[in-house]
Amino acid sequence: MAGETFKARLEPGGREFILHPGESVLNCALRQRILLQYGCRNGRCSSCKYLLIDGEVDLGNISSYSLTESEREEGWALLCQARALSDLVIREQPVADRDDAPVITPDDRRAEVVAARPLSESLWGLQLMLESRLSFYPGQFIEVEIPGRPGSWRCYSIASSPATPDRIELIVKRIAGGEFSGRDEHFTAGFKLAIRGPYGMSYLRKSDRPVLLVATGSGLGPMLSIIRSAAERQDPRSYWLYYGARTESDLILRDELRLLEQRMAHFSFRSALSAPAAGDGWRGAVGRVTQVLQREIADASPYDAYICGQPEMCEAVATLLLAKGISEDRIFRDDFFAASD
Ligand SMILES: Cc1cc2nc3c(=O)[nH]c(=O)nc-3n(C[C@H](O)[C@H](O)[C@H](O)COP(=O)(O)OP(=O)(O)OC[C@H]3O[C@@H](n4cnc5c(N)ncnc54)[C@H](O)[C@@H]3O)c2cc1C
Ligand code: FES
Repeated sequence: MAGETFKARLEPGGREFILHPGESVLNCALRQRILLQYGCRNGRCSSCKYLLIDGEVDLGNISSYSLTESEREEGWALLCQARALSDLVIREQPVADRDDAPVITPDDRRAEVVAARPLSESLWGLQLMLESRLSFYPGQFIEVEIPGRPGSWRCYSIASSPATPDRIELIVKRIAGGEFSGRDEHFTAGFKLAIRGPYGMSYLRKSDRPVLLVATGSGLGPMLSIIRSAAERQDPRSYWLYYGARTESDLILRDELRLLEQRMAHFSFRSALSAPAAGDGWRGAVGRVTQVLQREIADASPYDAYICGQPEMCEAVATLLLAKGISEDRIFRDDFFAASD
């Protein structure tokens, strides 16, 4: 029946939440401060794959790569896409450090572009003034609705620290033809946007372990939020940032990173260029970020690792760190999956 609400129960444990019609199971859970495992929110990464013990869902528009035919038959669903057609019983899965940080209820709000500046040929810094304060953990992201396309959203990681909750910064890769990133008017002061959030599970965990941050391209955004807030809190942990780019002109915000290195006793950053231009005079590390990690990290077991950027890079770095001894539940990653493919 249209408009009917249902109930979800997580087993074991018995936690319950209400399922609203037309809203994904994941969104319903997060709005009721129930943390489930998830990543891209676009049906791409399969992080939100859960087994339905009982009940029926509309699986949504997902590929057979994200959820295979046999998984569908066995009762698995991607909860970021699935919408309830009945009450549900869902097999609960462990979430690393679930009690570390309570879920911040995601909310919708308006935002206005107050500044937009190119940081490199393709990466832009976008500052948004929010109509109301946004609480978030360093490492989380927001969604921006594509103007003129109601219900079509893009994820962008927050690069600023939570200390400025009404003014946030994003680092956006401008893609020619991209529905959000390709339009000049979206990068013009005064432009109004609808946003919602915060989302994401790759937020900085409380722990005593050294922190390894690995990013390429616009994946630097959430790492900046983590480092900026660590500097503000004078976090005693060690932070290591590995930042990969193609050429020297793609290495953004190096002056700020150097300043942070001077201000923070335990922060070091390493940049690696995969294709330094002949005239660059580059004396730093050369190669993909995985090659540099391969050379420089002998034992990854002591670290908490945060990885952000292109999915292929995230996968390669995670595989390498696992081979070097890190435990799977100490890897936190945001693969920047494209929503539209
Ligand atoms: C959790 C998460 C966090 C993200 N955070 C950021 C962020 O902080 N900064 C950021 O810039 N992006 C981020 N992204 C990616 C972002 O959400 C969009 O997918 C991206 O900006 C493209 O959107 P668009 O509307 O401009 O292009 P679309 O209209 O969606 O796509 C246009 C074309 O561009 C291609 N395309 C998409 N992404 C890329 C790419 N990276 N390189 C080359 N071609 C591409 C698509 O395949 C498509 O063919 C994140 C994604 C996720 C899942
Ligand atoms: S597939 Fe659901 S969060 Fe990525």
